[in-house]
Amino acid sequence: MSSAELSVFIQALGVHTPERKLTNAELSSMVETSDEWIKTRSGISERRIAGPDENPSDMGAQAAAQALKRAGLTTADIDLLIVATMTPDVPFPSTACLLQAKLGLRRDIPCFDVSAACSGFVYALQVATDMMRSGSYRHALVIGAEKLSSVVDWSDRTTCVLFGDGAGAAVLTTTTDKHVGILGNLLGADGNNSELLHCVGGGSAAPATPESIKAGQHHLRMNGKEVFRHAVRVMTESCERVLAKCGMKSEQVAWFIPHQANIRILEAVASQLNVGLDRFPSNLDRYGNTSAASIPLALEEAWREGKIKHGDLVLIVAFGAGLTWGATLLRWHEPPR
Ligand code: UT7
Repeated sequence: MSSAELSVFIQALGVHTPERKLTNAELSSMVETSDEWIKTRSGISERRIAGPDENPSDMGAQAAAQALKRAGLTTADIDLLIVATMTPDVPFPSTACLLQAKLGLRRDIPCFDVSAACSGFVYALQVATDMMRSGSYRHALVIGAEKLSSVVDWSDRTTCVLFGDGAGAAVLTTTTDKHVGILGNLLGADGNNSELLHCVGGGSAAPATPESIKAGQHHLRMNGKEVFRHAVRVMTESCERVLAKCGMKSEQVAWFIPHQANIRILEAVASQLNVGLDRFPSNLDRYGNTSAASIPLALEEAWREGKIKHGDLVLIVAFGAGLTWGATLLRWHEPPR
C-alpha cells in the first residue's frame, strides 16, 4: 500500500484508573488548603492515587487490554507500541518495553516511550500516525500512563492538589478512506521556558544522593501562574492553527478534547475560540491533572457517554512541561463490526 493512500483512525479506546480516591477534604488535613480553594481555582474535587505495585506499565497494560477487546483485536495484531509518560516505571528500559512484556505483545515490533509531559499523548499520536502512513504498520497502541503521585511534593500545596494517576490507551488502525481519522496535526516546543515546570533531580545531571533527596530535588516544581498564561495562549493558537491547516472552522468541531489541567484554562480557551464550554468535556473534578493520560481518559469518557459519534469532528489539544504543545484534528470513525 502506498503511503499516499493511507489514513489513520482511532479504532477503540481503553482506560484504567486506580481504585484509591484522594478527596479535597483529605488533602485539607495534609496541607493548608480547602475544598473550596481547590474547586474554585482548578475545578478538581478528587484524584486517583496508584498503589505501590501499580505503575504506569501496569495501568497502561490494563487500559490497552480494554482497548484491544473493544477493537475486537488480539495482542498478535499490534505492530507498534508507543507509551507517553513523564513518570516512567524506571529510568530505563522504557515503560513501553515493560508494558510489551506484561501485555504479551509480539517481539518483532517497535516499542518506545515519548517524553513530552502533558502533551505526550498528542506527540505519540502524531509519531504513530506518521509511522503508520508509510504502510508498514496496520494497528498501533498509543498509551498515556502516569503516576504523578510519585513525583509530587505532598507538602507543597501549590502543586499537590492538582495531580493524579491513571492511564488511557488508543488502538490506531490504517484505512484507505482519506476522509476519516486523523486529518491534521501540529506539535511545538519552547525549551527556553523549561524551568516553569520541571523536576531537576534524578537524571544524569543530578543523580539521587541523600542531599538531593533532602533538598526535594526529585519533586515536580511549577510556576503555576506563568504556566497558566502560556497554556491559555498556546492551546488557543494551536486549535486555530490546526483548523486553518485543515481548512476547517471552530464551528464545525463537535468536540474539543483539551488536556485536563485546570477548568479555568478550559473556560479561557473556549471563550477565546468563541465556543461554548459544553463542547469541552471535562473530567477534572474526578481525576485532576493526569498529564499524558488526561486526553485519552477524557476522550474515552466522551465516547462512552455517547457524546462523540461517528462522523464528528474532534479537536484534541494539549500543553505541558518542556514547554510542549500539540493539536490533532480528527473525523471520528466507527467502522461497522
Ligand atoms: O499540565 C500542564 C501544566 N499545569 C497547568 O497547566 C497548571 C497551570 N496553573 C494553574 O492551574 C493555576 O495557576 C494554579 C491552580 C496552580 C494556581 O491558581 P492561581 O489562581 O494562579 O493561584 P496563585 O498561584 O496566584 O495563588 C493564589 C493564592 C496565593 O496566596 P497569596 O500569595 O495570594 O497570599 C497562594 O499561596 O493562593 C495560595 N495558594 C493556595 N491556597 C490554598 C496556592 N495553592 C493553594 C492551595 N490552597 N492549594
